[in-house]
Amino acid sequence: MVATELDEVRAAAIAALEAAGDLTALEAARVAWLGKRGQISALMQRMGQLAAGERPAFGKAVNELKDEVSARLTARRATLEETARGARLAAERLDITLPGWPPRRGSLHPLTQTRREIEAIFQRMGFAVERGPEVESDYYNFEALNLPPDHPARDMQDTFYCGPGRVLRTHTSSVQGRVMARRAPPIQVIVPGRVYRRDSDHTHSPMFHQVEGLLVDREVSFGDLKGVLQGFTNQIFGASLPLRFRPSYFPFTEPSAEMDVECVVCGGRGCRVCGHTGWLEILGCGMVDPNVFTLAGYDPQAVSGFAFGMGIERIAMLRHAIPDLRLFFENDVRFLEQF
Ligand code: FA5
Ligand code: MG
Repeated sequence: MVATELDEVRAAAIAALEAAGDLTALEAARVAWLGKRGQISALMQRMGQLAAGERPAFGKAVNELKDEVSARLTARRATLEETARGARLAAERLDITLPGWPPRRGSLHPLTQTRREIEAIFQRMGFAVERGPEVESDYYNFEALNLPPDHPARDMQDTFYCGPGRVLRTHTSSVQGRVMARRAPPIQVIVPGRVYRRDSDHTHSPMFHQVEGLLVDREVSFGDLKGVLQGFTNQIFGASLPLRFRPSYFPFTEPSAEMDVECVVCGGRGCRVCGHTGWLEILGCGMVDPNVFTLAGYDPQAVSGFAFGMGIERIAMLRHAIPDLRLFFENDVRFLEQF
């Protein structure tokens, strides 16, 4: 009778422990069965109702029951703790095999890209790349180019003066005289670089980039100049665009011309970009003026040559259909990352 009742308590207690799904539920089951006011303690208190002879056996049986349930509790707690730990580790797991955030990749500025392509095209045609100073003497920026101090054509370019006889060069033509002063003909160079003018609107910037070309040899003709420029235009615009040479004036070339390409936007029909003319000016050029050779110490009877100067911004704007030159200098990543 008593033994059967103990078996029932044992079965119920064990079932309660097994039913506890987490440590909180298990603690509640512990209190209910093994606690001071739990069911197993309650059994002990019934000892007083038993006959003296039955007490030792009963007490022993209840103690064994208590030990067994305690052992079960410990085992169940270990299992639940293991489960809880597993769940916590799963929740905290870091996947170290996931790729990290890649650093943002930059790219070359569109003007740098255009300059490098211009250099590569002329290098394939046999031109060497030369450079010269941005802070220049009045002599190389003007005088050596047949522009004496009182020459009215000095007003063609609004100059930044930076000291007596010192200017920020207004064009890369300033390097012509430097190259000729150092070297004997034949000469075949291009000169990329920054130039400065007091000029600012959506097609003019106070600092911009030019590429100068200078070729000096025997019996150089205007036809040679046209051939070089046609070859260049075909490659930089990737198409054989019609060219037009308009008579112009530069003190350092004679004859002088400005070269237009057929408008790359409208194909010559006329649009806003080309001012409805169908043509776009991209450079100035001409045959080197004999006075420039004389100033450089060359014999104008013995040598001849051509020169040209183009704006890099101008070419980059046409290639990428960029409407405003100032976009190149604002360093807005949203603009720059398109190239
Ligand atoms: C000259 O600078 C001459 N030195 C070019 C030359 C060289 C002629 C050799 C003959 C022989 P011009 O001022 O037109 O010329 O400038 C040449 C090009 O520079 C222009 O066609 C234009 O593309 C660009 N340019 C001129 N001013 C600006 C400016 N403020 N902002 C951006 N591009 C400009
Ligand atoms: Mg001009």
